[in-house]
Amino acid sequence: MRPAPRHVIKALLTAATGLVAATGVLAQARPGGDWALGEYLAGECVTCHRLSAPAGAGIPSIIAWPDDQFVAVLKSYRLGDRDSPVMQTIAGRLSEDEMAALAAYFGSLAPRPANP
Ligand code: HEC
Repeated sequence: MRPAPRHVIKALLTAATGLVAATGVLAQARPGGDWALGEYLAGECVTCHRLSAPAGAGIPSIIAWPDDQFVAVLKSYRLGDRDSPVMQTIAGRLSEDEMAALAAYFGSLAPRPANP
């Protein structure tokens, strides 16, 4: 096989770079909730739920959960299936979109060591 002409190699490299960039964008923009809205709404949550894992003082860590589980848990608080007055009040105020947004944001966070 003849070596590929220079312009072909260059085109392939450009395509590969574009693909890597596109993958990066995909990793950011997860399907489902509005990540930026989630980040905004998370300001309230992180007063209790610390972003570092494991969380202290009996408050569970809520990062890196699959979106659907995160939303399901919030809904179970809202319905009163899960018994926590604090979380029932908070979940009761959230719309479906806001729950999905929070799921997208917290779900995208990787666990961090407790004492970096
Ligand atoms: C005032 C403190 C406080 C705030 C603010 C708060 N939470 Fe919680 N959250 C808790 C506590 C305490 C629990 C554990 C309740 C229980 O025993 O079920 C909890 C549990 C949870 C759980 C279930 C965790 C698990 O492992 O089962 C999720 C999900 C959650 N909170 C999400 C949120 C979100 C999203 C917000 C912001 C919209 C938020 N919380 C704001 C105190 C808080």
